[in-house]
Amino acid sequence: MSGNLTSATVPGALPLLGHLPRLARDPAGFLAGLPAFGDLVEFRLGTHRVQVPCHPELLRQVYADDRTFDKGGPFYQRFRDILGNGLATCPHRDHRRQRRLLQPEFRADRLPGYAEVMTREAEQLTRGWTDGATIDAFPAFYRYTLRVVARSLLATEVPDALVDRLQESFEHAFAGALRRVLLPPLPAGRRYHAAVAALGATVCELVRDYRERGVDRGDLLSGLLAARDEDGSALTDAEVHDQVLTLLLAGTETSAAQLAWTCRLLLEHPEVAARLQAEIDGVLGGRAATYQDVEHLPYTANVLTESLRRYPPGWILLRTTTRTTELADRTLPPGSYVVLSPYVAHHNPRIFADPTRFDPDRWQPERAAALPRWAFGGFSNGPRQCIGEGYARAETVIALATVLARWELAPAPGTRPAPVRLTTILRPRRLPLRTVRRPLPPTR
Ligand code: HEM
Repeated sequence: MSGNLTSATVPGALPLLGHLPRLARDPAGFLAGLPAFGDLVEFRLGTHRVQVPCHPELLRQVYADDRTFDKGGPFYQRFRDILGNGLATCPHRDHRRQRRLLQPEFRADRLPGYAEVMTREAEQLTRGWTDGATIDAFPAFYRYTLRVVARSLLATEVPDALVDRLQESFEHAFAGALRRVLLPPLPAGRRYHAAVAALGATVCELVRDYRERGVDRGDLLSGLLAARDEDGSALTDAEVHDQVLTLLLAGTETSAAQLAWTCRLLLEHPEVAARLQAEIDGVLGGRAATYQDVEHLPYTANVLTESLRRYPPGWILLRTTTRTTELADRTLPPGSYVVLSPYVAHHNPRIFADPTRFDPDRWQPERAAALPRWAFGGFSNGPRQCIGEGYARAETVIALATVLARWELAPAPGTRPAPVRLTTILRPRRLPLRTVRRPLPPTR
């Protein structure tokens, strides 16, 4: 199938470090430059060889075959040390069962109920804001997305102190895990171990509290505790623990990062911001957005999708081959690393014309339909596609529209955007924004 596609190797690998210094210095620039080398591009992460499919046909091949291109090897072992063997980190052999057990909680008919929490929390998000104050975008949105996941899926209140503890613990744990994989001789460090222990303890606390109160609250955690597979088996306590931790990570940092990147892009593109504002004002007239409003905010949705194209939070999705396999003109032995990078695909000019241009109209249905099917990877594709996509799309439209219905987000004076860093989830580091209260529109 992919026999006429060619492979190439990025030149200039250093002994031991490979391309790591270049990747660490400018991860976005390094990744965006890969498609210029060929259809399948190899580079070196320390001593590991990594294959990056850049052609849509190769992307399709890898996304679709999760048995051959599995989540395994030392990288995933490090992530499992933190998250356990939940839906996002488990290998193919455990995946179908876990997915079957979680899927009912993410069906479209559950969204209107979850969206009530999204609307309430979006209002709560801005309640403490004052005119002319400065906020940092990512932590502000993280507070929102964590509260939404905790309340809608786990029926739990999350006090502010816990929000801060969780964010910090995830940050230290993943930074430590990345260092341990990329620079193996380094010991993990006290901060890493403390962060992993804190995450485990927080989730135990949440699940214990839940079990003690022992009522079915019709939320995801009740569903998980009651779920039975076809053979009648239930999730064990350890499995429930791993799923909760997985959702607390996968369902929060990603959407918060997307909202923060969107704010930055809107500051850089006032013409897009003005059109967005007109749509939001026309539909909401200054009130908070609800689930019913989402379908009337198509430009808002396109702005968010385009933001996900420019800055996909899941930008480096790692797979390990489980058997000898052909990819382009290469034969990969078992244990080879393959990186599905939505960031690479989204910045490939042979797939997305003028890829650095922020152009929400490329998501108008007729233009989007002309794109190769596996090109957009913001929520991944195939069997491991994000289970929370519908949830996240509703959550981010509701948050963005509710905030902008009443507030203008202006650049904080004297700050410049911080450069992108090599992290597991692509998110802006500091993005200080000035909150300016908008005059209420005349009643209609
Ligand atoms: C803008 C928001 C989000 C983005 C960009 C995003 C992105 C992704 C991506 C790229 C993957 C695939 C990872 C891989 O293939 O290695 C994924 C998987 C997953 N996501 Fe999301 N996600 C978002 C929101 C959410 C939400 C809100 C939830 C849950 C509440 C969630 C839960 C999960 C889970 C459990 C998986 C693993 C699915 C599986 O392997 O079957 N995500 N997400």
